[in-house]
Amino acid sequence: MTQQAFWNRMADRYAAQPVADETAYQTKLAATRRLLRPDMELFEFGCGTGSTALIHAANVKHIRAVDFSERMIEIAKGKADQAGTKNVAFEVGSIENVDLAPESLDMVLGMSILHLLKNKEAAIAKVFRALKPGGYFITSTACLADMMPLIRYLAPLGNRLGLLPHLDVMTQPQLRSTMEAAGFAVEHEWLPNRKAAVFMIARKPV
Ligand SMILES: C[S@@+](CC[C@H](N)C(=O)[O-])C[C@H]1O[C@@H](n2cnc3c(N)ncnc32)[C@H](O)[C@@H]1O
Repeated sequence: MTQQAFWNRMADRYAAQPVADETAYQTKLAATRRLLRPDMELFEFGCGTGSTALIHAANVKHIRAVDFSERMIEIAKGKADQAGTKNVAFEVGSIENVDLAPESLDMVLGMSILHLLKNKEAAIAKVFRALKPGGYFITSTACLADMMPLIRYLAPLGNRLGLLPHLDVMTQPQLRSTMEAAGFAVEHEWLPNRKAAVFMIARKPV
């Protein structure tokens, strides 16, 4: 099964699920919102059913949001129509293939996505190039090696059986050094609890 097929199959269930930790989600939204300005151009990859982009839309100029699952994007577009939100462009697309103009973006969001990529280094480098100097890269990433030590062995099997997506099993220090190696300054790092994703605000130096 392709990764897209995995996420297409998951999409309706994903849309119906409540957020796992609503307090942590609201804290991340608030930390992001504090950095937003009405003239900002945002990009989100792995946007899923669009909830986060639709929440931030009122506080920025425009958001381009991509996900490689057609079904996720179909649901996201339906939610945008229902909310009457006009400044979010949802597109089917992968972070690997999307074109991003150099130094064109004020902020990039990558929520629950970096640990799903086969080459997170390439994605992070692409985001770095596309951000304006001083731009923000905001991420929430499951550092699975810290959360479940055995996952390193179970992930490839689970993926082969179609039970798990591809998983990049990393630690929090590995994530931080990958960001720093790409040129980012990590300004804020927050682990809500031992089993949660790491929220990170990284900035491209001015
Ligand atoms: C765990 S969900 C997170 C969705 C959303 N960001 C959220 O926080 O609820 C991961 C999403 O990333 C998408 N995805 C995975 N790999 C991708 C890639 N290489 N390019 C674009 N989207 C991808 C999946 O289709 C899925 O919708």
